[in-house]
Amino acid sequence: MRTYKISVILGDGIGPEQSQATLKVVQRLAEAFRLSFEFVKAEAGDGCKQRCGSALPEDAIRTLEGTDVCLKGPVGETAFDVIVRLRQMFDLYANLRPSRAYPNLRCLDPSTDLMVVRENTEDLYKGLEFDVAGSIVALRVITPRACRRIASRAFRIAELRNRKRLVTAVHKANVLRKSCGLFAAICREEAKLHPDVAFEEMYVDAAAMNLIRQPAHFDVLVTTNMFGDILSDEAAEVVGGLGIAPSGNVGDDFAIFEPVHGSAPDIAGRKIANPNSMLLSASMMLSWLGERFSDSDCAMAAGSLEAAVIQTMIDRVTTPDLGGKNTTEGVADAVAQRISLEVIR
Ligand code: NAI
Ligand code: MG
Repeated sequence: MRTYKISVILGDGIGPEQSQATLKVVQRLAEAFRLSFEFVKAEAGDGCKQRCGSALPEDAIRTLEGTDVCLKGPVGETAFDVIVRLRQMFDLYANLRPSRAYPNLRCLDPSTDLMVVRENTEDLYKGLEFDVAGSIVALRVITPRACRRIASRAFRIAELRNRKRLVTAVHKANVLRKSCGLFAAICREEAKLHPDVAFEEMYVDAAAMNLIRQPAHFDVLVTTNMFGDILSDEAAEVVGGLGIAPSGNVGDDFAIFEPVHGSAPDIAGRKIANPNSMLLSASMMLSWLGERFSDSDCAMAAGSLEAAVIQTMIDRVTTPDLGGKNTTEGVADAVAQRISLEVIR
């Protein structure tokens, strides 16, 4: 049996509460599906910066390099120094952010099931900001290579999801003629290579509106880094909020899975953070491991974890953000119990 080495960044604010709860559930999955996981802690974030002067020490980077995959809790004010840097450093060029309607949760349209595919390595998030005689100039970097691989990934995802088989390229090429113009042109070229997938383009402001007006219209949205950051929080809210929003930062041979949201300082330490965003991120992680290492047990564990999360929603075991009274640990324990049920069935 292969032992998967998983680096874990506990994070700041609600991060440690969510991470601990998630690791317990993943351990339960390991027992149920006879999988073997070794968790290796990597220190990064606000707390780490306070303790050792760096938000992302060399040690943490080496730890991630020595593992198969990373599971990350949200960090706080050092998010740029941690996750934006890690995405660029490990070339995790695709940020996959699914939003689907779940049972018993408030949702604008119960047939919503979409995936934001966000370019994850460039755009304004290169962090190239300069002081020019007292004014600030920020560089927006858009390269053909990054556009090509994110567009290609989006079409392949639309094929694999096999739902509406629709890719919507979101941009603002009417104003950002060169940078968004390049992105749009390459998306059009990729569309020609995938005649089995329908293709449309939408300006980002219209996309923001349509996500609320008719979220079920969408299947796969592909977009540049900052637009994807903003639209994925919106898409999360359409189906019930950030508490259930998972994500994967995926490259060709490494990936980091983390909740879409941040460290939620307003609710940290109150034991009410919804663990589902991280549990569903763990499910995406297992699915990725299953695919990468051709391990059907891992893929089954991923499916079972998502099914167990959904079952807690059906049973109305939820944290206050979803209208319930349960704690972070209470929800995670309920998920773990439903994993055993899944296996016995
Ligand atoms: P946030 O995403 O942390 O919180 C926004 C709202 O959603 C808050 O009201 C919060 O209570 C709620 N929320 C988030 N996760 C929740 C959960 N699991 N259960 C229940 N409610 C939840 O955004 P905010 O407040 O703008 O940022 C806080 C910090 O997070 C900042 O320092 C920011 O830099 C950092 N951040 C880190 C990210 C990362 O590590 N990838 C991503 C986004 C923000
Ligand atoms: Mg964000």
